[in-house]
Amino acid sequence: MAFPETRLRRLRGSAALRGLVRETELRAGQLVLPLFVREEPAAGAPEPIAAMPGVARLTIADAVIEAREAVELGLAAVLLFGIPAAKDAAGSGAWAQDGVVQRCARALKAELPQLLVITDVCLCEYTDHGHCGVLRADVEEPEVDNDATLELLARTAVSHARAGADIVAPSDMMDGRVATIRAELDEEGFAQTPILAYSAKFASAFYGPFREAAGSAPAFGDRRAYQLDPANGREALRETLLDVQEGADMVMVKPALAYGDLIGAVRRATQLPVAAYNVSGEYAMVKAAAAAGYLDERATVLEILTSLRRAGADVIITYHAKDAARWLNEQS
Ligand code: PBG
Repeated sequence: MAFPETRLRRLRGSAALRGLVRETELRAGQLVLPLFVREEPAAGAPEPIAAMPGVARLTIADAVIEAREAVELGLAAVLLFGIPAAKDAAGSGAWAQDGVVQRCARALKAELPQLLVITDVCLCEYTDHGHCGVLRADVEEPEVDNDATLELLARTAVSHARAGADIVAPSDMMDGRVATIRAELDEEGFAQTPILAYSAKFASAFYGPFREAAGSAPAFGDRRAYQLDPANGREALRETLLDVQEGADMVMVKPALAYGDLIGAVRRATQLPVAAYNVSGEYAMVKAAAAAGYLDERATVLEILTSLRRAGADVIITYHAKDAARWLNEQS
């Protein structure tokens, strides 16, 4: 049957009708809040990040305060990024027993045992060259050494688990990292620690503000030799399915807004929980437009997050998490 017998507007006529047929729900418990934790200065005020109003580099003590708020708002988890005091060629701060992420994870688990702590596993914040792995010494053009990096990532993941991380999330995009991390976690007694793999992670311009925040821009070149080409959807599915084979417990699509097709494709290609990372540049765009009075921030953010759920994301990592939770809690 078609018009005039069929009228889709019949089910849109009132808030009650729209609520009855709403297909997608967004809850605070699906949102993950990223936190930037700095080693130095170890005391002092949060350091604002210019392109990300409302986000700052925090001391461990302030990260605990933020995390307590996250718990009170009913958020799912926090995702920790470390800003170390010193960097070196191997990124050794990444797996230091008393590294900033390790210390922060311990503090969070001690103060807020009910909070889920996810840690980003990567070397780029800890290497002096800013790449996500170690460099090959035997070639003229600097190049990230995939296989030599795997052991360092696994060591990092184990150090996070030992510090109390509930979930480890490798974001480096080296081939074979999920299998290597799984094996090492199991061997070291962390068979119960899940891996959230940044599986379909693209070489994206939308990470710009994050790199300012974390001080992790590559000193030379770019990340296109390891992160995915934004033009490649089939390759993103291959990456994701490989991570599933290697033992990932959850997979991720990142960035989110320009990649809704892949959130949907990944959703259909696996039975695993799917996360979408609403990244720094996506946050910066909304905040800038809202500050200029061009967009209604609340309506825009809730529409974006709902659309990521509709596309197929179970979990959304977003810098809007606290605001969104407040707005959602007000609505209900
Ligand atoms: C580390 C990492 C990055 C992001 C998350 N983990 C930056 C990058 O790959 O350059 C980006 C997050 C964001 O932009 O919000 N590899």
